[in-house]
Amino acid sequence: MDWEKYLKEEALLDYEKYVSPGKLKAYRLLGFDFVPARREGVWIYDQNGRKYLNCRSSGGVFNFGHRPAELIAELEQALRLFDIGDHLLASGARAALAKKLAELTPGDIQYTVFGVSGGEAVDLAIKLARAHTQRPKIISAIGGYHGHTGFALATGDEEFKKYFGPLAPGFVQVPFGDLKALEKELDQTAAAVIFETIPATFGIKIPPLDFFPGVRKLCDRAGAVMIIDEVQAGLGRTGKLWAIEEYNVVPDIMVMGKGLSGAIYPMSATCLRPFLNRFLEEHPFIHISTMGGSEAGCLVTLKVLEMTGKPEFLSEVRRKGGAFEKGLSGIQKRHPRLVKEIRCQGLMIGIGMPEPKYGMLLTMALSKNGVIALFAHNDPSAMIIMPPLIISDSEIAFVLEALEKSFMELEKF
Ligand SMILES: Cc1ncc(COP(=O)(O)O)c(C=O)c1O
Repeated sequence: MDWEKYLKEEALLDYEKYVSPGKLKAYRLLGFDFVPARREGVWIYDQNGRKYLNCRSSGGVFNFGHRPAELIAELEQALRLFDIGDHLLASGARAALAKKLAELTPGDIQYTVFGVSGGEAVDLAIKLARAHTQRPKIISAIGGYHGHTGFALATGDEEFKKYFGPLAPGFVQVPFGDLKALEKELDQTAAAVIFETIPATFGIKIPPLDFFPGVRKLCDRAGAVMIIDEVQAGLGRTGKLWAIEEYNVVPDIMVMGKGLSGAIYPMSATCLRPFLNRFLEEHPFIHISTMGGSEAGCLVTLKVLEMTGKPEFLSEVRRKGGAFEKGLSGIQKRHPRLVKEIRCQGLMIGIGMPEPKYGMLLTMALSKNGVIALFAHNDPSAMIIMPPLIISDSEIAFVLEALEKSFMELEKF
């Protein structure tokens, strides 16, 4: 196959014809109607060679950018010894990765069950909470997002689930950050509370420092399991290895995905404290994921953790987050009618605007100015800026300049 020729001439038409005409319609509107061809670092190039800086990072998948050389080398090396591995047999690669995760996750979190996707890992977290507590109720946040699989879908907003009922019963939502509303729902039927540490799809709403200690206390009092979803916020995104570290609490279950893949091999993980493993000890084959924890992928993830966990890497993320915050506060001063709020935790950045329509308009303007970023689906008045963590200072300047130009265009509109 001559890929260069195919990407240039036929791929987009075939995508429309054989994958999704509906998506292509939306891409045309947003200015995303191209086929990513060459990709390198923070950049993706379309079929005609035009380049875009990827400020979506697919929610953290591209923390090390596109096709990171160290991780490709690790995968090549891994494939000399390993393959996916038989999921019913013991595995050295899974053992080594689980041990590393136990070392790196907070408190006494010890066991890991591997999966392929974040949704799958969330589903297992909810299964374990229900099995352990023998209670039905799962409490999540309005505007939160944990995936589109069975239980994960049931935690989400009505918009995503209304066509697919009847869904699993027992799911309720409370406003994010509202401890009083949470307390009311935490009765004797509550199995678990599940929150993203920083809800991403809700527009990067950063909770105050006393929020998660409050959630921990309420869960303990009610005997409910505290599940923290770090699929987007984890793995160095906020300048800490895990975003929950900022809050000094130990959740009962931590779910992670996206960035574990190093953008080259799918991987997700449900990490749990020992008391939750009792059920799995009694029923070791109750949850199966054939492709989960691919052995070759485990080696990539081990390398991702080694690279992410370096203190100098994390302090660079915080420094770059500071550079964005400074640049964005200048933009806010110049465009006070359009920029209501800047929310920054490391390189997890939300821009709050006054009306829902601005998210879409800014997305369109940014793509014209060479930056791929997307408004927050569950709060379209917010823009999400999540560049690869390896972004350089000159690339940060490029994004800030594109934002400035885009806001100037929006002022005219
Ligand atoms: C916070 C969060 N949790 C879970 C998921 C689901 O992950 P996946 O799409 O890999 O199933 C996502 C996906 O965007 C997410 O953002």
